[in-house]
Amino acid sequence: MNILILGGGGREHALAWAVKQNPKCDRLIVAPGNAGIAMLAECADLDILDGAAVVGFAEENAVDFVLVGPEAPLAAGVADALRAAGVAVFGPSAAAARLEASKAFTKDICDACGAPTAGYARFTDRAAAQDHVRAQGAPIVVKADGLAAGKGVVVAMTVAEALAAVADMFGGSLGAAGTEVVIEEFMDGEEASLFVLCDGKDVLPIGTAQDHKRVGDGDTGPNTGGMGAYSPAPVLTEAVLAQAMEEIVKPTVAEMARRGTPFQGVLYAGLMIRDGRARLVEYNVRFGDPECQVIMMRLGAQAFDLIQACAEGRLSGMSVNWAEDHALTVVMAANGYPGSYAKGSQIRGLEELPEDSAHMVFHAGTAARDGSFIAAGGRVLNVTARGATLAEAQARAYAMVDRIDWPGGFCRRDIGWRGIGRP
Ligand code: AMP
Ligand code: GLY
Repeated sequence: MNILILGGGGREHALAWAVKQNPKCDRLIVAPGNAGIAMLAECADLDILDGAAVVGFAEENAVDFVLVGPEAPLAAGVADALRAAGVAVFGPSAAAARLEASKAFTKDICDACGAPTAGYARFTDRAAAQDHVRAQGAPIVVKADGLAAGKGVVVAMTVAEALAAVADMFGGSLGAAGTEVVIEEFMDGEEASLFVLCDGKDVLPIGTAQDHKRVGDGDTGPNTGGMGAYSPAPVLTEAVLAQAMEEIVKPTVAEMARRGTPFQGVLYAGLMIRDGRARLVEYNVRFGDPECQVIMMRLGAQAFDLIQACAEGRLSGMSVNWAEDHALTVVMAANGYPGSYAKGSQIRGLEELPEDSAHMVFHAGTAARDGSFIAAGGRVLNVTARGATLAEAQARAYAMVDRIDWPGGFCRRDIGWRGIGRP
């Protein structure tokens, strides 16, 4: 098969790595890709937000299957355009992608299907929103309704902070994403992510993970896109997983189908777990980045069989062939990230690292220059390893990190601490 992956980060490198190992894959193209992806696939220059352009490219290149990585093309209807043109695609319609693109929509769905989540109220008026904040008190969570590239959520520890966030969002700081604001009850607990393939009617959980959102060791400093992840997440025990599937994921999928907008793709449920019960924090309609890297490391070649079955509505016959293993990824970022950072610093030593089913460096933001790699983004490398235990996966990942010569970058040294510290 000729397979096209849309995206160009560490998530897409991990997807490409898994797809490439599957014997069904004859030709693999990634658009736009990056310097790491270019070592295992063809990279193509293509506007991935333009449905007509993606369809045209797929037709010209006899593409049999398209896998959409990020949320933006999904929200823009690229999967709809491909389906309408008869091209097989993994990823939800724009209507179903509203589960990520609109927080208010997701809250409506939770109400309709009884999925446990934080109490909330919706506002299109600043004064009413601020009155609500004063009445509720802090801590409280303020969210812009629309897609805001991770900047639309403020977990306010004080009323003053919450009022300022409301003023900011209605003041236009996030553009159209902030014309409606959702104010939520603060949920305490431990966060974890659950990844579930959905073919519109059947569901198949394909892994759990925990991210590290803060930039500094010990979960300190500003939020980032994610500084590292591991899978599985021990807090999602079999019992909690079963409860989350029965009370949150399955009712959501049924409600989406009932509304005539079935969800097809990977549903990423962000969960807050407390006292052995999960509540929904939010949905994403794509793989997490860097969570995808650890999930792909564990699934390997079978990932494409599952993804294809999902796109073709055949999930009911599928199961995951699990190994009793753990995967962990350490994000190496450019100095200064998540603030301003320089691009172009040279990265040495990648060629000498092991590359096998237990060791892989996925590239997030790299470019090639004169035969070597340079940093071309904020999050740059995802140093990923597998092991029989989480501690082994962690030791292997950091052993690789220590062999990478990149003075322009840094990483957290404690990825996995929550899981490893668990009794
Ligand atoms: P997002 O940027 O949409 O991924 O959400 C940001 C983060 O804010 C989540 O991962 C949680 O850590 C936190 N968060 C969102 N909603 C709540 C809530 N109701 N209670 C506590 N924390 C929350
Ligand atoms: N790592 C968080 C996300 O992909 O949204």
